[in-house]
Amino acid sequence: MRRSLTLGNLQISPALALAPMAGITNSPFRLVCRRGGAGLVFTEMISARAMRYQNRRTAEMGTFEEGEHPIAAQIFGREPEEMADAALTLTEAGADIIDINMGCPVRKVLKSGSGIQLMREPDLATDIVKAVVAKVDVPVTVKIRLGWSEDEINFITFGKTLADSGASAVILHPRTRAQGFAGSARWEEIARLVEALDIPVLGSGDVNTVQDARTVFETTGCGAILIGRGSLGRPWIFSQIAAELEGEEPGSDDELRKQFISMHIKLIEKAMPDRRSIGHLRKHLAWYSRGLPDGSSFRALVNSLDSSTKIADKAAEFFCLEGDEIIKKAAP
Ligand SMILES: Cc1cc2nc3c(=O)[nH]c(=O)nc-3n(C[C@H](O)[C@H](O)[C@H](O)COP(=O)(O)O)c2cc1C
Repeated sequence: MRRSLTLGNLQISPALALAPMAGITNSPFRLVCRRGGAGLVFTEMISARAMRYQNRRTAEMGTFEEGEHPIAAQIFGREPEEMADAALTLTEAGADIIDINMGCPVRKVLKSGSGIQLMREPDLATDIVKAVVAKVDVPVTVKIRLGWSEDEINFITFGKTLADSGASAVILHPRTRAQGFAGSARWEEIARLVEALDIPVLGSGDVNTVQDARTVFETTGCGAILIGRGSLGRPWIFSQIAAELEGEEPGSDDELRKQFISMHIKLIEKAMPDRRSIGHLRKHLAWYSRGLPDGSSFRALVNSLDSSTKIADKAAEFFCLEGDEIIKKAAP
């Protein structure tokens, strides 16, 4: 049976989402992951403060293409009204879910008093969730970690606070701030949160194979799984896992890679000027070529090229793209 999750009027099917990743989950990558079977995609985290001033980069972050839906826009900040205003702007732009970041451990975000700092300020977190919920008519979710450190693990009480404040779901990345990305995600803590809350819990962390997904669904009872790093160089992972969970043929990485690289390069070229697309192309082609014979010399070559057209040509050669897979310049 296909697992799906209902949040408000939204049906998320399969219940496998692309996790928010700063600098990565932009529109081209979200589109590619939707094509790769993600039932939901997240934006990068968007500063509520920056939304107020709407510079070009933030405006771009808050613009969604038709093919991206359903999409969750993730915001960070610490001023309830500012967060609510940002949420409203994003829903007016088409966001289907507003996700509030209360789990980011990055220094820059902590310095502004947002991200996981809010797990230490439950009263303010309550005000933020209430203000956002009152302002928008889409589901509001909150993404958290286990807590600040081993001595300050509070995700259960904090999760209850969020639910009481009107959150439609809580997303747990079961590591502490102090842990960063070290060690393994503690999936058993997802099960504890599922047990404690009456709203759906979504799990995020270290799900890279169908076996991981099966274990997390079966042992935690979570409503959906977010996949982050496992989608890099493998945006079709969502459809492969969904197929395998249903006992269907998942399709081979080698075939899927060719189809997706061409699509992804075109979308990157279309979405941004050469100067910026080069950086994204290098990054993604490095992930696509990981583990392939001669991958390191291909990556060195791509890093030495100074135009997206040259990079696309070399990618077509390296990945042996043919026919429809050939990368033609995207229509303006
Ligand atoms: C490069 C990178 C950027 C990330 N950016 C965000 C972010 O903006 N907001 C957020 O809530 N989580 C962010 N995360 C955390 C992921 O959403 C996810 O919870 C974490 O990577 C664990 O899942 P994974 O093992 O599937 O990658 C980021 C992770 C990575 C690797």
